[in-house]
Amino acid sequence: MDSVAVDDRRQSGSWWLIGVAVLVAFGGLGLAGCPPTMPTNPVGFENISDPTNNGATFVGSPSCRGCHADIGALVDRHGHAQAIQALQGAAPVFPETARDTSIPSPPADFAWTAFSHVVGGYRKSALFVDQNGFFATTGETGVDTQWNAALPHSGIERGFAPYLPDATEPVPFDFECFRCHATGAQSAPPGASVFQGGRAGMAGSWHEAGVGCEACHGPGSNHFGSTGADVTIDTAGVFVDPDGGNSCRHCHGGGADGDDERISAADGFITHYEQWSELRASGGHADFACTVCHDPHVSLTTGRETAIRNDCTACHAEMSMAGHRGATFRRGEFAETLRCESCHMPYAGMNLTRADASVVGEDARVGDVRAHIFRIDVREGDFNMMFNEDGTRVRTDSQGRAAVTVDFVCLRCHNGLGNVFPLTLERAAEIAPNVHALPE
Ligand code: HEC
Ligand code: HEC
Ligand code: HEC
Ligand code: HEC
Ligand code: HEC
Ligand code: HEC
Ligand code: HEC
Ligand code: HEC
Repeated sequence: MDSVAVDDRRQSGSWWLIGVAVLVAFGGLGLAGCPPTMPTNPVGFENISDPTNNGATFVGSPSCRGCHADIGALVDRHGHAQAIQALQGAAPVFPETARDTSIPSPPADFAWTAFSHVVGGYRKSALFVDQNGFFATTGETGVDTQWNAALPHSGIERGFAPYLPDATEPVPFDFECFRCHATGAQSAPPGASVFQGGRAGMAGSWHEAGVGCEACHGPGSNHFGSTGADVTIDTAGVFVDPDGGNSCRHCHGGGADGDDERISAADGFITHYEQWSELRASGGHADFACTVCHDPHVSLTTGRETAIRNDCTACHAEMSMAGHRGATFRRGEFAETLRCESCHMPYAGMNLTRADASVVGEDARVGDVRAHIFRIDVREGDFNMMFNEDGTRVRTDSQGRAAVTVDFVCLRCHNGLGNVFPLTLERAAEIAPNVHALPE
């Protein structure tokens, strides 16, 4: 790929997407029973710079859904809408599109009434928050308190597993934790006691549980209103973030220390919310907006086909699967037909689960979140080469680029426990530079 083509594609990429969105907006949103008066100003993304929408207040996703029902229906099926759920004395209720639609029972020795909220559970794992706003941890309760949906790629089975087995004190579900799982989250001002719902563990506050419309579009009160019988719309009264720098970035980058220029890590894995920082370190994709590849309203879990706007080969038409074309990796019941992502987006991130050596061998590393680094380090060496000395950051080179090591990439499959031959780190590194030249 020559550099001219690259620049064109990158720049036209984001502007082209805005163009499409504007066309969609002109096309109408199926506003059944909605505003009798359509906006007089031309519809466009006027407000792309003020995420407060001129000091507006939060109105809540249900209001937005009243007019934007089609987008509301998509977001309902997105992990965003399920990031925190308030419990009503009964089991959490997930949309039918959840990877695992029901949690059959509360953790042993608990009743559902013991919990006020569940965090996650739509895609991979769930954690439970008690009525005082503290997590149920295994260390404190003596029973397994983390729910895992089955994750076939890493052999994780459906069921309860330990969560913080070493915790001896209550662990609060506070702002530091819920800031990315809620809409309009705020920390408690110094000295002031602000607790969401009046629960002692939940220092700070939010406007809406889960990642609602206004988490990305800013507070909505200036966007619509009514004068007598007429509904008025001000499209400039809502924030639209074309590059994600004021939305995605706050929750998918920024890590433990809030520094999104660095990719934070722990236990030999990238932490679970570093996609923004990873992308910045990806070399060729460093300037991409998340929305070049992702439709912001469509879940990967619900509909992979439309959730990803541009697959790898839309831009890398010249690259092929070479020797891996049509290959299917199998281990027990698990089957994966190889795609570009199989190697370039390995599970180098970990939130709550990782594969055991009995499933992937001693040298392979398989967590539960795909990486967005894309570059592969073809040198011989294991994950230690990827992280800094104390293991808290991913190393980057003099140009700020990171790369994933072959234990995350090749050894995930080539470990002798599935239907393919094992590779050592040395052998994998030897073949990797030529993997795109392997005969079909
Ligand atoms: C009373 C109806 C109504 C409500 C309620 C409403 N919208 Fe809108 N919204 C519209 C209309 C009409 C447009 C113009 C687009 C079109 O022609 O369909 C629009 C446009 C938008 C746009 C595109 C802005 C642009 O610059 O083109 C966004 C984003 C948006 N709305 C988000 C929201 C969010 C978030 C909420 C909730 C806080 C919300 N809307 C509530 C009617 C509404
Ligand atoms: C910097 C933002 C951020 C912070 C802080 C954060 N998370 Fe997350 N969380 C995310 C993102 C992004 C994901 C989705 C990652 C993925 O693909 O698994 C996620 C996913 C999860 C999931 C899995 C959801 C599911 O449906 O499978 C759980 C559970 C979770 N987080 C719990 C927590 C807990 C507990 C804390 C506080 C100790 C926390 N998170 C702090 C951003 C954050
Ligand atoms: C994760 C961030 C995010 C969330 C959550 C989100 N949006 Fe959006 N939305 C965007 C971005 C970014 C765009 C810009 C266009 C694009 O890239 O598709 C957009 C575009 C829009 C548009 C105009 C273009 C179109 O697709 O019609 C409307 C209207 C809209 N959003 C409404 C909503 C409503 C209503 C909700 C909640 C039910 C919501 N959005 C939730 C990020 C988000
Ligand atoms: C307020 C914080 C927040 C913002 C802003 C945000 N996200 Fe998320 N995102 C999360 C959390 C938390 C999860 C995990 C939710 C879960 O699974 O329970 C998540 C999950 C996701 C997922 C997987 C969801 C699925 O259903 O497959 C994608 C993809 C994603 N985010 C992309 C984006 C993009 C792109 C943007 C910006 C346009 C964005 N996010 C903005 C917090 C956020
Ligand atoms: C070059 C394309 C591309 C860009 C740019 C991109 N993503 Fe992704 N992302 C993907 C693909 C492809 C997948 C899903 C792979 C699969 O099918 O599992 C994905 C998966 C995800 C997931 C789910 C990870 C998991 O394992 O559950 C999250 C969260 C996510 N992306 C967030 C983001 C955010 C936030 C940004 C911007 C900082 C971003 N992505 C930029 C292509 C991209
Ligand atoms: C919107 C277009 C686009 C999409 C989609 C896209 N790429 Fe790229 N990719 C690029 C551009 C442009 C470059 C920079 C090319 C260069 O420097 O020669 C690049 C570079 C790369 C590089 C080299 C990175 C480096 O700097 O060393 C890899 C590896 C890569 N892409 C893999 C992927 C994979 C895998 C996917 C799908 C998950 C994907 N790309 C999706 C446009 C895209
Ligand atoms: C079996 C694993 C594997 C698969 C599958 C795979 N790649 Fe790669 N790819 C690699 C490795 C390893 C490299 C690094 C080669 C090097 O740096 O010497 C690479 C390099 C690249 C590069 C950078 C090339 C360059 O000249 O800098 C791009 C772009 C790329 N791959 C895109 C893709 C796309 C698109 C697909 C799907 C059609 C794909 N890859 C499938 C392993 C894979
Ligand atoms: C998702 C699983 C997976 C990953 C990741 C993967 N492979 Fe493979 N590999 C396979 C499968 C399946 C085959 C096909 C075996 C067969 O058909 O007998 C294969 C075949 C091969 C072959 C033989 C190809 C031929 O032409 O016969 C080589 C060499 C190879 N892989 C090297 C690598 C290297 C090096 C990496 C890392 C850059 C890698 N693989 C990553 C699953 C994987």
